[in-house]
Amino acid sequence: IFSQVELAPADPILGLTDAFKADLRDNKVNLGVGIYKDESGQTPILKSVKFAEEKLLGTEKSKSYLGMEGVQAYNSAVQSLLFGAEHDVVSQARALTAQAPGGTGSLRVAAEFLVRHTPAKTIWISNPTWANHNNIFGTAGLEIAEYRYYKAETHGLDFEAMLTDLQGAKAGDLVLLHGCCHNPTGIDLNLEQWQQIADLCLEKSLVPLFDFAYQGFGAGVEEDAQGLRIVANTVPELIVANSFSKNFGLYNERIGAVTVVASNSGEAVNAFSQIKSTIRASYSNPPAHGALIVSTILGDETLKQLWHDELKEMRERIAEMRTLFVESLKAAGVEHNFDFISGQNGMFSFSGLNKEQVNRLREEFGVYIVGSGRISVAGMTKTNMPVICEAIAKVL
Ligand code: LMR
Repeated sequence: IFSQVELAPADPILGLTDAFKADLRDNKVNLGVGIYKDESGQTPILKSVKFAEEKLLGTEKSKSYLGMEGVQAYNSAVQSLLFGAEHDVVSQARALTAQAPGGTGSLRVAAEFLVRHTPAKTIWISNPTWANHNNIFGTAGLEIAEYRYYKAETHGLDFEAMLTDLQGAKAGDLVLLHGCCHNPTGIDLNLEQWQQIADLCLEKSLVPLFDFAYQGFGAGVEEDAQGLRIVANTVPELIVANSFSKNFGLYNERIGAVTVVASNSGEAVNAFSQIKSTIRASYSNPPAHGALIVSTILGDETLKQLWHDELKEMRERIAEMRTLFVESLKAAGVEHNFDFISGQNGMFSFSGLNKEQVNRLREEFGVYIVGSGRISVAGMTKTNMPVICEAIAKVL
């Protein structure tokens, strides 16, 4: 049977990491995958995480199975981060959360549930979007429709086009929204625009599906949740897939969650039961360690404060690299105006470099960025900045 199998194409993001590892050049730089690096070029384990792990080592009593929905304390901590502990969807038990393996796992559980148990058939995704969205939703069996989001000429949001395209969506269609730090553009809606999107979803009975993977990498943990909260205040139903890979640096623990918000608590219970059965059919129940780390940190005021401080440090270092990137491009003699990069949010910068320039960066200079021109600013340091900017100056 395997003689029939064709070779899969390399993944647009993780395939780059494979190619990077195989590259023998000394001064190579990986700005493909979104992984935070500190000034020394390392991806550190946060101190808050280390303390939580030490605590767990002394107190954990069993490795018995978790329930299909995972660690209860974790799931309620997730809801507090997303909506705030006092939000109506929490107090009215309209929101129910299941731990799931990272952002991808959470999106896939959500998509499988939606395909099998709801009338939703189509998901509207932004153009451009994270390279894995098509793959996840298409594999789960959703039809994909695109809404415009980015205007290349202005390097900014094309909000009018977004609204126009979403006018074409039908009642019951899903709309994928990036909670903050849009991947790959780094361009987010302002609060007024969030309200307009929420109103449009209400008016046309569209169901928002949030991909919320960068909470705390934009303006702050609370600030970054405002768009989601505006939508949750407006529409009766939504789904959130969130991830703690980046904001807790727990990449390889694969820790995220899927949260369903229904019109009332009875419908939430029914939907949640099917989310659990989706999980049972997929991986049965989640691994515990990542959830225990997050719930230990969020359940302890000192550790929580330390985590907030560490997250702020990561956010500020990325912002500093963004500014330095723009300045260093000028210093390297680049005449093209890259000032728009300073206004983008989160880990990525959408550079506008074309495929040929991206290929030359990789082949001639060992600088790896995603084919769409997305650059991980979180992988830049003061040390690798000159190599990156001189290479970009040469390919422009
Ligand atoms: C990214 O966009 O680089 C990250 O979300 C990592 C991934 O899985 O693609």
